[in-house]
Amino acid sequence: MTVSTEPVTDSLLGTYKRAPISFVDGEGVYLVDSEGRRYLDFVSGIAVNALGYGDAGLRQAMHAAADGLVHVSNLYATQPGQQLADTLVERSFADKVFFCNSGAEANEGAFKFARRWARTIGAAKHEIVALRGAFHGRLFGTLAATDRPSYRAPFRPLAPGISIVERDIEDVALALDPETAAALIVEPVQGEGGVRVLDAGFLRELRALTRERQVALIFDEIQCGLGRTGKLFAYEHFGVEPDLLTLAKPLAGGLPMGAILVSSPIATTIKPGDHGTTFGGGPFLASVANYVLARLSDPELLMHVEQTGAWFGKRLADMARRNDRIRTVRGIGFMWGVDVAGIASQVVQRALDAGMLVCSAGDYTVRLLPPLVASREELSAGLTILEDAF
Ligand SMILES: Cc1ncc(COP(=O)(O)O)c(C=O)c1O
Repeated sequence: MTVSTEPVTDSLLGTYKRAPISFVDGEGVYLVDSEGRRYLDFVSGIAVNALGYGDAGLRQAMHAAADGLVHVSNLYATQPGQQLADTLVERSFADKVFFCNSGAEANEGAFKFARRWARTIGAAKHEIVALRGAFHGRLFGTLAATDRPSYRAPFRPLAPGISIVERDIEDVALALDPETAAALIVEPVQGEGGVRVLDAGFLRELRALTRERQVALIFDEIQCGLGRTGKLFAYEHFGVEPDLLTLAKPLAGGLPMGAILVSSPIATTIKPGDHGTTFGGGPFLASVANYVLARLSDPELLMHVEQTGAWFGKRLADMARRNDRIRTVRGIGFMWGVDVAGIASQVVQRALDAGMLVCSAGDYTVRLLPPLVASREELSAGLTILEDAF
């Protein structure tokens, strides 16, 4: 069966080229469409559905959350939000947490917090620097920090004071003027930019440089955080701690939630009124996120992702040796990119026809983001389909 990729023409705005498949159900690592066809899912709602589909505990957490308050606004405290912030602080470098609704919103907030802090050091400190290949979101601030010409061009002029430099310590050093720079934002593992695990030495150099120049180091772990690399936070692989860290995607099990983790020197410069958001950290979302965070922090799950992910990467590398259509394999944990000789979207389509969901990262990279609960058998089934699709 060939699945058409003709966009569906309906009342939804045409911002996505949606395949005309309508999913109605899911179980584990499989999605089921309205015709009853099962698809092995290595997209996971773009790194959101870490626990796969139909997880009994998640369902129960959502039911329990629905029995309580849904929303009261950030004018008042609620227990689930407090608990979630406490847990994130306990498990990370951070001292404070701000909740919001999406990844882009988390990064926009991190830019503001970094600037607020930087201005206490020098009146001219405002510039934000991002790296080649970065993806930080589609809102005005984050779009200026996203290195995808086709996303940027139609919306110029972009927000000022934000620039992109090469992933090279000398270029970054040139860009971070101690008088004017406020923040450097980095995905420790770049996602949309082709699944690139940044070098630990480079990250350490960035840490030293940002400290020396009094520039906030922001890690965007929206895609690579919360267990996807086999550690709760990707930075734990590199021995480098940021000043700010952003999270979203899997945090509330598919419900829209983001978070900004903030270290004390920055947190103490933030005052009431500096930032806000109506829905952020509401009790319903936070209750569900408390459950998800407990699951994603489970050492057994993390060990599974680390070890099974390494095994999966080796199998992909073996496949690359057998198949000259595969150029390079990169990744860590359950986050892999495969550069292909042709166009990635053709591989995505062939996999879809064979009953498997994968996505691309740029024109030439096929991106694999299986649910973190996928077993070796399920990953093997995916490799078999992929071998043909490549
Ligand atoms: C690393 C990274 N940052 C930011 C974002 C933006 O997140 P959202 O789509 O929730 O705004 C994404 C989304 O793919 C991402 O992968």
